Amino acid sequence: MINIPRGTQDILPEETKKWRYIESKLNELMELYNYQEIRTPIFESTELFARGVGGSTDVVQKEMYTFKDKGDRSITLRPEGTAAVVRSYIENKMQGLPNQPIKLYYTGPMFRYERKQKGRYRQFTQFGVEAIGAENPGIDAEVLAMAMHIYQSFGLKHLKLVINSIGDMHSRKEYNDALVKHFEPVIGDFCSDCQNRLHSNPMRILDCKVDKDKEAIKTAPQISDYLNEASKAYFDEVKQHLDDLGIPYVVDPNLVRGLDYYTHTAFELMMDNPNYDGAITTLCGGGRYNGLLELLDGPNQTGIGFALSIERLLLALNEEEIELDIDNEFDLFVVTMGDAADRYAIKLLNDLRKNGIKADKDYMSRKVKGQMKQADRLNANYTVVIGDQELENKNINIKNMQSGETEMIQLDGIVDYLKNKE
Ligand code: HAM
Repeated sequence: MINIPRGTQDILPEETKKWRYIESKLNELMELYNYQEIRTPIFESTELFARGVGGSTDVVQKEMYTFKDKGDRSITLRPEGTAAVVRSYIENKMQGLPNQPIKLYYTGPMFRYERKQKGRYRQFTQFGVEAIGAENPGIDAEVLAMAMHIYQSFGLKHLKLVINSIGDMHSRKEYNDALVKHFEPVIGDFCSDCQNRLHSNPMRILDCKVDKDKEAIKTAPQISDYLNEASKAYFDEVKQHLDDLGIPYVVDPNLVRGLDYYTHTAFELMMDNPNYDGAITTLCGGGRYNGLLELLDGPNQTGIGFALSIERLLLALNEEEIELDIDNEFDLFVVTMGDAADRYAIKLLNDLRKNGIKADKDYMSRKVKGQMKQADRLNANYTVVIGDQELENKNINIKNMQSGETEMIQLDGIVDYLKNKE
């Protein structure tokens, strides 16, 4: 037997109903915020992520599915959506469009070769948003509020919004220098990842899972002390907007995020359910990326966005025991007795479906009792039993499965009867 690849999952029919419900709700929410959908390829040139996400990140160093295609080009299955959306923005010259800022969203599979864990997959589905072209604390607040709104609209309550500012490029550089100075004397005690990160990406040492309890991490300089006036003012305004909106948040100076492109606002939304037993609590993450467009040879524009995975959203819904309001309605199950009735039913189904009525019959030669069970399993609102007698009299009893009541109607009137019930 050939098994499914590690870190992937089949989404079976009962689950796909939930996925479709979630996806359509997300689409509706995006209309409220005036975000438009964008679809980019599942694979891109490796260079896009190496440059955009950053050569010293775990994603690029360890987790990408990279291969050479038959034309000897290095191709990577996308590990995230931001770099690709920015590439498309640049390539399609969206900075020239009148409806600025450009507000985009996407849903689709992403791939990271990570260690499998509850809530962590090698293929996962991200829903993400990117607002490009405005550097304005108001839009940062809009994006954060939208992330909150999304989870709340599914009924989730145990949420914690954690924010930080990484400052502008200048503040970030000063801070990185201070971190290198701080960690250099003790780096020998740290894991090999941290040793490699010391010069390339010292901020990542702060959220190392292996060394998180080391004293030097606790005493490390904090980004807030290195923010210049402009960065501080920007962060203060974002926080002010969140206060105005009544959105509670926690400022965590060690929140640095795993991808290189962030500047200013960085945030994560965490599951804050005291009973949750998994290690992974981050539901969604994002932030502002002021240098990314230029880094990818684009115009001097800035953006902010976030992404969440539907897998982790489902995990959170499960934890809080929230049932989604999924439409499981089915209109009619046609029970048949005998060959003539069976033939009649096939034509009837064809008519019903062409009139937008959900209908089915038995194909397993079940007895009447078994067919009724099948109607129950389908949650059918109505059933009819067609036999020789019904074919002869041209009348039939249609049964309302909820009330148990039956009504005698004309055999060729079933379609109209159900159409009028809709
Ligand atoms: P990220 O923090 O790498 O950011 O991922 C965002 C979200 O994707 C995570 O919070 C989590 O919900 C989900 N996720 C990531 N990896 C996995 C995995 N292996 N299995 C299941 N879910 C996962 C980004 O990707 C940025 N592009 C977000 C962003 C958009 N920043 C600005 N704009």
